[in-house]
Amino acid sequence: MRGVWEPSFVRSPAKINLTLAVGPRRLDGYHDLESIVALLDFGDEVSAMPRDDGRIVIECDTPGVPTDDTNLAAKAAHALREHAKLRDGVTIRLTKRIPSGAGLGGGSSNAATTLMLLRDLWKLPLKRDQLAAIAATIGSDVALFLYGPLCAMRGRGELVEPLSVSLVASAVLVMPQIHSATAAVYRQFDEMPAPPKPESAASLVARLSRPNASFPAGPRQLLGEDFMPATFNDLESSAFAATPALGEFAARLREATGHAFRMTGSGAAFFHLFGKYHDRRELDRIAAAAKNLGATAVVIQPVH
Ligand code: C5P
Repeated sequence: MRGVWEPSFVRSPAKINLTLAVGPRRLDGYHDLESIVALLDFGDEVSAMPRDDGRIVIECDTPGVPTDDTNLAAKAAHALREHAKLRDGVTIRLTKRIPSGAGLGGGSSNAATTLMLLRDLWKLPLKRDQLAAIAATIGSDVALFLYGPLCAMRGRGELVEPLSVSLVASAVLVMPQIHSATAAVYRQFDEMPAPPKPESAASLVARLSRPNASFPAGPRQLLGEDFMPATFNDLESSAFAATPALGEFAARLREATGHAFRMTGSGAAFFHLFGKYHDRRELDRIAAAAKNLGATAVVIQPVH
């Protein structure tokens, strides 16, 4: 007999690309990337509950989120079940806060969280690297959500290396009501002049990381206020060309807040990093100015 099983929700974080260097289109149609990615204290929640009929069912109340097998969480469940040669059914419930088409990796994060949840639910002896191989078959940036909170991403996004530095920052995350289509942004990128070759992620991290003040021999830190000027995104001008409303929004955001925001991934969300102890009231004022433009905005200020 199955025991009583309470669905427990686990966090499925959003990501931002602090840097994103994009190379030319490869023969397989993808682009080689180099990116420093941070997982945020903001995101969705996912729960998994076993079911007896052998079906994989997605439940989500957010309009526009597919609940069929095209949902990346469903793809993750099918891929893991096939890998493990199981027939178990499961209901995966998604509570969404990350908008789609935002460059925050919401669908990919849900897929990675589903892989970890089902590995535990089905008691599969799979290591993280084995899950990462399955993740790479679901989407380019699924694997990175198995690592974090700060990592370097290469290849088409599937090669992930956790960084031994931490990001010490507050952030304002702004999500306009604009959808940016990843494939269209990359197509536009192919039409535009190649961006200048940026500093490698490794040398950027080495140049900007600081010893931890209280433990000089301990882990190094990237400070939000130091790192912001070093952020870049090679897809920004392509995304603005593919969706002109996005470029117009970025200009209005700068004007309304007095800060230059950086786009994440292929858009449409933007972020700005501040010091960890930056005045909360000012961060709230910046978020309120972004909301006045019709966007959703959140202040992310870690408490630890
Ligand atoms: O792998 P994923 O489905 O997330 O990618 C969506 C689309 O984004 C791809 O079909 C491709 O057009 C583009 N892409 C790319 N290079 C990458 C990642 C994605 O060209 N590294």
